[in-house]
Amino acid sequence: MSNFSSKLNIIAKNTDVYLKRVFSRQNNYSNLITPMKYGILSGGKKFRSAIVVNTGKIFEIDYKKLIIISAAVECIHSYSLIHDDLPAMDDDDLRRGKPSMHKKFNEFIAILAGNSLLTLAFEILSGNDLKIPQKLKTELIRTLSNYSGHSGLAGGQYFDLTFENKKISRKNIINMQTKKTGKLFGFCCESIAIIKEESMNSRNLLKDIGLKIGLLFQIVDDLIDFRGDRAIVGKPTKRDQKKGKATLVNLLGYRQSLNFAQKLKNKLDRQIKKYGTKAHDLLESVEFILNREF
Ligand code: IPE
Ligand code: IPE
Ligand code: MG
Ligand code: MG
Ligand code: MG
Repeated sequence: MSNFSSKLNIIAKNTDVYLKRVFSRQNNYSNLITPMKYGILSGGKKFRSAIVVNTGKIFEIDYKKLIIISAAVECIHSYSLIHDDLPAMDDDDLRRGKPSMHKKFNEFIAILAGNSLLTLAFEILSGNDLKIPQKLKTELIRTLSNYSGHSGLAGGQYFDLTFENKKISRKNIINMQTKKTGKLFGFCCESIAIIKEESMNSRNLLKDIGLKIGLLFQIVDDLIDFRGDRAIVGKPTKRDQKKGKATLVNLLGYRQSLNFAQKLKNKLDRQIKKYGTKAHDLLESVEFILNREF
């Protein structure tokens, strides 16, 4: 296993341990807890957690705080995947090597468990575990809700679905992907600037790095859909073409999209290197995106 993969596994484990503690403290028993755990604890790379942790490293933020923020981000990410797989959206039956939520349980459970993971993110950020001043918590919550909603992740998903089987320009594909996937990564980086009370300029620089990381991550996800093997990827592949998804791969072809991704990665490397040696792990994270198999 590569050095980065073993570091990623440790971060994933620590995020899961914290999430398990959050679940164990939910004092009102509910039938949604089991599907919620299925949606967030049964696999997943927890790569967004690695972006929070490795951006946090640059600014020497306490690890416990980083894991709590990561857990909130992973709740939103997992909710988005549960809904993304529903018949009304991508209609996919496999996720992380297991049946998608609506296949394992049913559609209404998938909708409700997804909703409950979305709100759990804000319960986590507003709770007592995260020991930062109240005004910074409010800013974290305000930013994350904004990036998850109609002008962020949900708005991007709207475009993804309405763009199906239409000829969409490169610019509009990039805009859609920056919203559906980039915004949450934007938060991963920007959240560090928020809790460090960095200037608006420094905050925007970090947000921009996050947006680019997310865009790169989605372009590579589309490349993996094109060339990947369902057994390795853990989700259905060769689906985007069938569904007429507006992706760079479908617009420009595999090689040109890979080329675009490589140029984007080089741009990102230059931006991240400005933070010096403490940014080593964040640089490694970006390297991982292009090399990953799943
Ligand atoms: C898949 O995300 C969905 C995209 C935004 C491309 P991940 O590849 O991070 O999914 P998991 O959490 O590791 O399963
Ligand atoms: C999902 O994009 C992006 C989200 C914000 C959920 P995809 O639809 O390509 O993700 P996969 O391939 O199903 O994981
Ligand atoms: Mg989708
Ligand atoms: Mg999908
Ligand atoms: Mg995909």
